[in-house]
Amino acid sequence: MMAGRGAHMAAVGGPARHIPVMLWEMLRALEPGSGAIIVDGTFGAGGYSKAFLEATDCKVIAIDRDPEAIAAGEALAEVFPGRLKLVNGHFGDMEDIVTREGVEAVDGVALDLGLSSMQLDKASRGFSFIKEGPLDMRMGKEGPSASDIVNTLSAGELAEIIGKLGEEGRSRAIAKAIVARRAEAPIETTKELSDIVARVLGRKRDEPKHPATRTFQALRLYLNEELEELARGLSAAERLLKAGGRLVVVTFHSLEDRIVKRFFANRSTPAPRGSRHLPEASAAEFAPSFRLLNRRPVEPNQSEIRRNPRARSARLRAAERTAAPAHALDLAALGVPQISFGM
Ligand SMILES: C[S@@+](CC[C@H](N)C(=O)[O-])C[C@H]1O[C@@H](n2cnc3c(N)ncnc32)[C@H](O)[C@@H]1O
Repeated sequence: MMAGRGAHMAAVGGPARHIPVMLWEMLRALEPGSGAIIVDGTFGAGGYSKAFLEATDCKVIAIDRDPEAIAAGEALAEVFPGRLKLVNGHFGDMEDIVTREGVEAVDGVALDLGLSSMQLDKASRGFSFIKEGPLDMRMGKEGPSASDIVNTLSAGELAEIIGKLGEEGRSRAIAKAIVARRAEAPIETTKELSDIVARVLGRKRDEPKHPATRTFQALRLYLNEELEELARGLSAAERLLKAGGRLVVVTFHSLEDRIVKRFFANRSTPAPRGSRHLPEASAAEFAPSFRLLNRRPVEPNQSEIRRNPRARSARLRAAERTAAPAHALDLAALGVPQISFGM
Protein backbone atom coordinates (compact mmCIF):
# COMPACT_ATOMS: atom_id res chain seq x y z
CA MET A 1 0.00 0.00 0.00
CA MET A 2 1.27 3.47 -0.81
CA ALA A 3 1.74 5.65 2.26
CA GLY A 4 0.12 9.06 1.98
CA ARG A 5 2.28 11.86 0.63
CA GLY A 6 4.05 13.47 3.52
CA ALA A 7 3.58 10.46 5.82
CA HIS A 8 7.30 9.70 5.45
CA MET A 9 8.40 13.27 5.25
CA ALA A 10 9.59 15.25 8.21
CA ALA A 11 10.87 17.92 5.89
CA VAL A 12 11.12 18.32 2.16
CA GLY A 13 13.25 15.49 0.78
CA GLY A 14 12.47 12.77 3.37
CA PRO A 15 13.10 12.09 7.04
CA ALA A 16 15.43 14.60 8.71
CA ARG A 17 19.08 13.56 8.81
CA HIS A 18 20.14 12.82 12.39
CA ILE A 19 22.18 15.60 13.96
CA PRO A 20 24.80 14.11 16.32
CA VAL A 21 24.28 15.25 19.91
CA MET A 22 27.21 16.73 21.90
CA LEU A 23 29.65 15.67 19.20
CA TRP A 24 32.48 17.87 20.42
CA GLU A 25 31.97 16.73 24.02
CA MET A 26 31.93 13.10 22.85
CA LEU A 27 35.23 13.54 20.97
CA ARG A 28 36.84 15.28 23.90
CA ALA A 29 35.80 12.54 26.32
CA LEU A 30 36.68 9.58 24.08
CA GLU A 31 39.96 11.08 22.82
CA PRO A 32 40.57 8.54 20.04
CA GLY A 33 44.32 8.24 19.43
CA SER A 34 46.17 7.21 16.28
CA GLY A 35 45.85 3.44 15.74
CA ALA A 36 43.04 3.16 18.32
CA ILE A 37 40.17 0.69 17.92
CA ILE A 38 36.84 2.25 18.81
CA VAL A 39 33.41 0.61 19.14
CA ASP A 40 30.54 2.88 18.12
CA GLY A 41 27.71 0.78 19.59
CA THR A 42 24.92 2.96 18.18
CA PHE A 43 25.97 3.87 14.64
CA GLY A 44 22.70 5.59 13.61
CA ALA A 45 23.55 8.06 10.83
CA GLY A 46 27.26 7.60 11.57
CA GLY A 47 27.83 11.10 12.96
CA TYR A 48 30.11 9.91 15.77
CA SER A 49 31.90 7.28 13.67
CA LYS A 50 32.67 9.85 10.98
CA ALA A 51 34.04 12.29 13.56
CA PHE A 52 36.31 9.60 15.10
CA LEU A 53 37.61 8.56 11.67
CA GLU A 54 38.29 12.17 10.69
CA ALA A 55 39.91 13.07 14.02
CA THR A 56 42.69 10.50 13.84
CA ASP A 57 43.95 7.39 12.09
CA CYS A 58 41.76 5.03 14.16
CA LYS A 59 39.56 2.06 13.23
CA VAL A 60 35.86 1.93 14.11
CA ILE A 61 33.69 -1.14 14.63
CA ALA A 62 30.19 0.28 14.30
CA ILE A 63 27.12 -1.62 15.48
CA ASP A 64 23.42 -0.90 14.99
CA ARG A 65 20.47 -3.19 15.52
CA ASP A 66 18.59 -1.41 12.75
CA PRO A 67 19.43 -2.94 9.34
CA GLU A 68 18.40 0.33 7.63
CA ALA A 69 21.10 2.27 9.54
CA ILE A 70 23.77 -0.29 8.60
CA ALA A 71 22.77 -0.33 4.92
CA ALA A 72 22.87 3.48 4.77
CA GLY A 73 26.34 3.44 6.41
CA GLU A 74 27.99 1.64 3.48
CA ALA A 75 28.64 4.98 1.77
CA LEU A 76 30.68 6.16 4.77
CA ALA A 77 32.64 2.87 4.87
CA GLU A 78 33.72 3.56 1.26
CA VAL A 79 35.12 6.95 2.27
CA PHE A 80 37.38 5.27 4.87
CA PRO A 81 38.54 2.04 3.21
CA GLY A 82 39.47 -0.67 5.71
CA ARG A 83 38.80 1.59 8.71
CA LEU A 84 35.04 1.29 9.29
CA LYS A 85 33.46 -2.11 9.90
CA LEU A 86 29.64 -2.05 10.01
CA VAL A 87 27.81 -4.77 11.92
CA ASN A 88 24.05 -5.29 12.18
CA GLY A 89 23.62 -6.47 15.78
CA HIS A 90 23.04 -5.49 19.40
CA PHE A 91 25.64 -3.59 21.41
CA GLY A 92 24.82 -5.93 24.31
CA ASP A 93 26.61 -8.56 22.16
CA MET A 94 29.63 -6.34 21.40
CA GLU A 95 32.09 -8.77 22.97
CA ASP A 96 31.16 -11.50 20.46
CA ILE A 97 30.99 -8.98 17.61
CA VAL A 98 34.43 -7.55 18.33
CA THR A 99 35.97 -10.99 18.90
CA ARG A 100 34.61 -12.14 15.52
CA GLU A 101 36.59 -9.24 14.01
CA GLY A 102 39.75 -10.76 15.50
CA VAL A 103 40.05 -7.98 18.10
CA GLU A 104 40.66 -8.81 21.77
CA ALA A 105 40.51 -5.41 23.46
CA VAL A 106 39.50 -1.89 22.44
CA ASP A 107 40.49 1.69 23.27
CA GLY A 108 37.08 3.31 23.35
CA VAL A 109 33.35 2.54 23.41
CA ALA A 110 30.71 5.14 22.54
CA LEU A 111 26.98 4.68 23.17
CA ASP A 112 24.38 7.25 22.10
CA LEU A 113 21.10 5.75 23.26
CA GLY A 114 17.58 5.77 21.94
CA LEU A 115 16.33 6.57 18.47
CA SER A 116 17.80 8.37 15.50
CA SER A 117 15.86 11.13 13.76
CA MET A 118 15.45 8.79 10.76
CA GLN A 119 13.65 6.25 12.96
CA LEU A 120 11.58 8.83 14.81
CA ASP A 121 10.55 10.81 11.75
CA LYS A 122 9.65 7.93 9.48
CA ALA A 123 5.96 7.33 10.18
CA SER A 124 6.14 3.71 8.96
CA ARG A 125 8.50 2.80 11.86
CA GLY A 126 5.65 3.57 14.28
CA PHE A 127 7.65 5.45 16.93
CA SER A 128 5.95 8.82 16.60
CA PHE A 129 2.74 9.65 18.43
CA ILE A 130 2.32 12.73 16.26
CA LYS A 131 2.33 10.99 12.89
CA GLU A 132 -0.13 8.37 11.74
CA GLY A 133 1.69 5.10 11.13
CA PRO A 134 1.48 1.38 11.94
CA LEU A 135 1.98 0.75 15.67
CA ASP A 136 5.35 -0.97 15.20
CA MET A 137 8.26 0.53 17.28
CA ARG A 138 10.74 -2.31 16.60
CA MET A 139 14.26 -0.95 16.27
CA GLY A 140 15.56 -4.14 14.71
CA LYS A 141 12.39 -5.01 12.77
CA GLU A 142 12.21 -8.41 14.49
CA GLY A 143 10.01 -9.87 17.27
CA PRO A 144 6.58 -8.67 18.42
CA SER A 145 5.46 -5.15 17.50
CA ALA A 146 3.86 -2.57 19.80
CA SER A 147 0.53 -3.44 18.21
CA ASP A 148 0.96 -7.12 19.20
CA ILE A 149 1.62 -6.01 22.77
CA VAL A 150 -1.25 -3.58 23.23
CA ASN A 151 -3.70 -6.03 21.64
CA THR A 152 -2.72 -9.14 23.62
CA LEU A 153 -1.36 -8.35 27.10
CA SER A 154 -3.74 -8.12 30.07
CA ALA A 155 -4.66 -4.77 31.62
CA GLY A 156 -2.45 -5.62 34.62
CA GLU A 157 0.55 -6.38 32.40
CA LEU A 158 0.08 -3.22 30.33
CA ALA A 159 -0.24 -1.14 33.50
CA GLU A 160 3.00 -2.64 34.84
CA ILE A 161 4.89 -1.77 31.65
CA ILE A 162 3.48 1.76 31.38
CA GLY A 163 4.01 2.42 35.10
CA LYS A 164 7.53 1.02 35.42
CA LEU A 165 9.03 1.90 32.04
CA GLY A 166 7.10 5.13 31.40
CA GLU A 167 7.03 6.31 35.03
CA GLU A 168 3.39 7.16 34.23
CA GLY A 169 1.24 7.81 37.32
CA ARG A 170 -2.05 6.95 35.54
CA SER A 171 -0.87 3.67 34.05
CA ARG A 172 -3.86 1.66 35.29
CA ALA A 173 -6.41 4.04 33.78
CA ILE A 174 -4.52 4.00 30.45
CA ALA A 175 -4.28 0.19 30.45
CA LYS A 176 -8.02 -0.08 31.19
CA ALA A 177 -8.85 2.29 28.33
CA ILE A 178 -6.63 0.29 25.93
CA VAL A 179 -8.36 -2.97 26.85
CA ALA A 180 -11.84 -1.38 26.50
CA ARG A 181 -11.00 0.13 23.11
CA ARG A 182 -9.46 -3.06 21.66
CA ALA A 183 -12.64 -5.00 22.53
CA GLU A 184 -14.24 -2.98 19.69
CA ALA A 185 -11.39 -3.35 17.17
CA PRO A 186 -7.64 -4.05 17.35
CA ILE A 187 -5.44 -0.96 17.94
CA GLU A 188 -3.26 -0.75 14.85
CA THR A 189 -1.92 2.78 14.46
CA THR A 190 0.17 5.23 16.48
CA LYS A 191 -2.61 7.80 16.27
CA GLU A 192 -5.22 5.39 17.66
CA LEU A 193 -3.03 4.70 20.68
CA SER A 194 -2.03 8.33 21.29
CA ASP A 195 -5.72 9.37 21.09
CA ILE A 196 -6.66 6.76 23.71
CA VAL A 197 -3.94 8.06 26.06
CA ALA A 198 -4.80 11.71 25.40
CA ARG A 199 -8.48 11.03 26.20
CA VAL A 200 -7.51 9.48 29.57
CA LEU A 201 -4.99 12.15 30.55
CA GLY A 202 -6.38 15.24 28.87
CA ARG A 203 -3.87 17.92 27.92
CA LYS A 204 -2.86 20.67 30.27
CA ARG A 205 -2.16 23.98 28.55
CA ASP A 206 1.26 24.42 30.13
CA GLU A 207 2.37 20.79 29.63
CA PRO A 208 5.18 20.90 27.04
CA LYS A 209 5.16 17.14 26.43
CA HIS A 210 2.47 15.29 24.52
CA PRO A 211 0.40 13.21 26.99
CA ALA A 212 1.31 9.98 25.16
CA THR A 213 5.09 10.53 25.56
CA ARG A 214 5.47 8.30 28.62
CA THR A 215 3.24 5.49 27.29
CA PHE A 216 5.12 5.39 23.97
CA GLN A 217 8.48 5.41 25.78
CA ALA A 218 7.35 2.50 27.97
CA LEU A 219 6.21 0.31 25.07
CA ARG A 220 9.36 1.06 23.08
CA LEU A 221 11.67 0.25 26.01
CA TYR A 222 9.76 -2.95 26.76
CA LEU A 223 9.60 -4.46 23.33
CA ASN A 224 13.18 -3.56 22.38
CA GLU A 225 14.41 -4.57 25.86
CA GLU A 226 16.41 -1.36 25.79
CA LEU A 227 17.32 -1.12 29.48
CA GLU A 228 18.57 -4.72 29.71
CA GLU A 229 20.56 -4.06 26.52
CA LEU A 230 22.07 -0.95 28.11
CA ALA A 231 23.19 -2.86 31.20
CA ARG A 232 24.61 -5.69 29.06
CA GLY A 233 26.37 -3.16 26.83
CA LEU A 234 28.02 -1.37 29.76
CA SER A 235 29.16 -4.67 31.20
CA ALA A 236 30.52 -5.88 27.83
CA ALA A 237 32.40 -2.59 27.39
CA GLU A 238 33.93 -3.08 30.85
CA ARG A 239 35.29 -6.48 29.78
CA LEU A 240 36.52 -5.26 26.38
CA LEU A 241 38.25 -1.99 27.24
CA LYS A 242 42.01 -1.86 27.74
CA ALA A 243 43.37 -0.10 30.84
CA GLY A 244 43.26 3.59 29.91
CA GLY A 245 40.41 3.01 27.41
CA ARG A 246 37.32 5.19 27.62
CA LEU A 247 33.59 4.50 27.86
CA VAL A 248 31.33 7.44 26.94
CA VAL A 249 27.54 7.21 27.14
CA VAL A 250 24.86 9.70 26.10
CA THR A 251 21.39 9.13 27.61
CA PHE A 252 18.06 10.83 26.93
CA HIS A 253 15.80 10.05 29.88
CA SER A 254 16.00 9.40 33.60
CA LEU A 255 15.69 5.59 33.49
CA GLU A 256 18.65 5.30 31.13
CA ASP A 257 20.70 7.89 32.97
CA ARG A 258 20.10 6.22 36.34
CA ILE A 259 21.52 2.93 35.05
CA VAL A 260 24.66 4.60 33.65
CA LYS A 261 25.12 6.69 36.78
CA ARG A 262 24.83 3.64 39.05
CA PHE A 263 27.12 1.58 36.85
CA PHE A 264 29.87 4.20 36.96
CA ALA A 265 29.35 4.95 40.68
CA ASN A 266 29.53 1.26 41.51
CA ARG A 267 32.60 0.63 39.33
CA SER A 268 34.54 3.71 40.46
CA THR A 269 34.08 3.34 44.21
CA PRO A 270 36.81 1.58 46.16
CA ALA A 271 36.02 -1.62 48.06
CA PRO A 272 33.64 -1.23 51.03
CA ARG A 273 35.22 -0.50 54.38
CA GLY A 274 36.75 -3.51 56.03
CA SER A 275 37.61 -4.96 52.63
CA ARG A 276 41.27 -5.24 53.60
CA HIS A 277 40.11 -8.23 55.60
CA LEU A 278 38.64 -9.82 52.53
CA PRO A 279 40.52 -12.64 50.85
CA GLU A 280 42.70 -11.39 47.99
CA ALA A 281 40.36 -12.63 45.25
CA SER A 282 37.38 -10.71 46.66
CA ALA A 283 39.40 -7.52 47.11
CA ALA A 284 40.35 -7.67 43.40
CA GLU A 285 36.70 -8.22 42.55
CA PHE A 286 35.79 -4.96 44.34
CA ALA A 287 38.68 -2.83 43.05
CA PRO A 288 37.44 0.11 40.94
CA SER A 289 37.34 -0.87 37.27
CA PHE A 290 36.71 2.73 36.14
CA ARG A 291 37.87 6.24 37.03
CA LEU A 292 35.21 8.90 36.44
CA LEU A 293 36.14 11.64 33.95
CA ASN A 294 33.30 13.90 35.08
CA ARG A 295 31.54 13.84 38.45
CA ARG A 296 28.41 15.49 37.09
CA PRO A 297 26.95 14.60 33.69
CA VAL A 298 27.82 16.93 30.81
CA GLU A 299 24.77 18.64 29.27
CA PRO A 300 24.41 20.36 25.90
CA ASN A 301 24.83 24.12 25.86
CA GLN A 302 21.99 26.48 24.97
CA SER A 303 23.18 27.10 21.44
CA GLU A 304 23.15 23.36 20.70
CA ILE A 305 19.64 23.03 22.16
CA ARG A 306 18.49 25.93 19.96
CA ARG A 307 19.99 24.30 16.88
CA ASN A 308 18.82 20.80 17.79
CA PRO A 309 15.91 20.66 20.28
CA ARG A 310 16.26 16.86 20.46
CA ALA A 311 19.49 17.40 22.40
CA ARG A 312 17.72 19.09 25.31
CA SER A 313 17.44 16.08 27.63
CA ALA A 314 20.86 14.57 26.74
CA ARG A 315 23.38 13.72 29.49
CA LEU A 316 26.91 12.55 28.77
CA ARG A 317 28.83 10.45 31.28
CA ALA A 318 32.39 9.24 30.72
CA ALA A 319 34.93 7.10 32.53
CA GLU A 320 38.38 5.62 31.96
CA ARG A 321 39.04 1.92 32.45
CA THR A 322 41.54 0.91 35.12
CA ALA A 323 43.53 -2.34 35.07
CA ALA A 324 41.26 -3.98 37.71
CA PRO A 325 39.18 -7.00 36.67
CA ALA A 326 35.62 -6.45 35.38
CA HIS A 327 32.83 -6.83 37.96
CA ALA A 328 29.88 -9.22 37.64
CA LEU A 329 26.71 -7.82 36.04
CA ASP A 330 23.76 -7.30 38.43
CA LEU A 331 20.69 -5.89 36.62
CA ALA A 332 18.71 -5.12 39.80
CA ALA A 333 21.64 -3.29 41.42
CA LEU A 334 21.90 -1.08 38.34
CA GLY A 335 18.22 -0.13 38.62
CA VAL A 336 16.94 -2.00 35.55
CA PRO A 337 13.18 -2.21 36.28
CA GLN A 338 12.10 -5.80 36.78
CA ILE A 339 8.94 -6.74 34.85
CA SER A 340 7.13 -9.64 36.52
CA PHE A 341 6.19 -11.49 33.30
CA GLY A 342 8.04 -12.51 30.11
CA MET A 343 7.64 -11.18 26.56
C1 LIG B 1 20.62 8.24 18.75
S1 LIG B 1 20.94 7.14 17.44
C2 LIG B 1 22.69 7.26 17.24
C3 LIG B 1 23.13 8.40 16.40
C4 LIG B 1 24.61 8.43 16.08
N1 LIG B 1 25.43 8.67 17.24
C5 LIG B 1 24.92 9.48 15.03
O1 LIG B 1 25.70 10.40 15.32
O2 LIG B 1 24.39 9.37 13.93
C6 LIG B 1 20.78 5.59 18.21
C7 LIG B 1 20.97 4.39 17.29
O3 LIG B 1 21.28 3.28 18.12
C8 LIG B 1 20.61 2.15 17.66
N2 LIG B 1 20.44 1.27 18.82
C9 LIG B 1 19.67 1.47 19.90
N3 LIG B 1 19.81 0.45 20.76
C10 LIG B 1 20.71 -0.40 20.21
C11 LIG B 1 21.28 -1.63 20.64
N4 LIG B 1 20.96 -2.19 21.80
N5 LIG B 1 22.21 -2.21 19.84
C12 LIG B 1 22.56 -1.64 18.65
N6 LIG B 1 22.03 -0.50 18.19
C13 LIG B 1 21.12 0.13 18.97
C14 LIG B 1 19.32 2.66 17.07
O4 LIG B 1 18.83 1.75 16.10
C15 LIG B 1 19.77 4.00 16.47
O5 LIG B 1 20.12 3.85 15.13
